[in-house]
Amino acid sequence: MRQLHVVKHPLVQHKLTLMRQEVRSTQGFRRLLNEVGMLLAYEVTRDLPLEQVEIETPLAPMKAPRLAGKKLVFAPILRAGVGFLDGMLDLVPSARVAHIGLYRDPQTLQAVEYYFKAPPDVAERLVIVLDPMLATANSAVAAVDRLKERGCRELRLVCLLAAPEGVERFHGTHPDVPIWTAAVDERLNEHGYIVPGLGDAGDRMFGTR
Ligand code: PRP
Ligand code: URA
Repeated sequence: MRQLHVVKHPLVQHKLTLMRQEVRSTQGFRRLLNEVGMLLAYEVTRDLPLEQVEIETPLAPMKAPRLAGKKLVFAPILRAGVGFLDGMLDLVPSARVAHIGLYRDPQTLQAVEYYFKAPPDVAERLVIVLDPMLATANSAVAAVDRLKERGCRELRLVCLLAAPEGVERFHGTHPDVPIWTAAVDERLNEHGYIVPGLGDAGDRMFGTR
């Protein structure tokens, strides 16, 4: 059941390296996150089912493939997950969006929910949860718990960087939810940050601290 896809695409790896560098403007970081979002959307949708339909080209009728199966919902975890959203929606413009507002309590590292808004038919859709950072996994676990409470059965998680501890904890709780990430780093530090990581993704994206 547990599936971990590490996306080794050279463009993804190159952009991740640029994002890890401390000397990177807020604007540059945000643009890179958006670009990587688009590339990861390509990877996470790679196995979506197709059906053959009859169409007319300007020259002849033919059978051609088109997307079939469940429609998509992108579910960014606020704030940093929003950084992936535009790139993903560029590739799948018909997708709906569920916003999940969570922050990590700095002392306990537990996820605290402050917002949740999902499309009414979210349970009938394939839900792709977006969060660049999978550290302790408390946020991703809470987001998937919440979506499952709403009846969602088919979910995927896309992140940029994961800690081994986060992958273990996430799949310990939700083994049915596959993960796509660009890298699995060494470890978490005593503050729950991914090392070597890239720092605080939300702060770097929005220029806060
Ligand atoms: C960060 C990050 C993830 C979470 C990951 O969010 O964007 O959502 O931490 O850590 P975890 O796996 O240990 O839960 P944060 O709570 O800092 O909020 P922000 O995105 O609003 O900055
Ligand atoms: N959240 C981040 O943004 N970065 C980390 O390394 C851990 C949690």
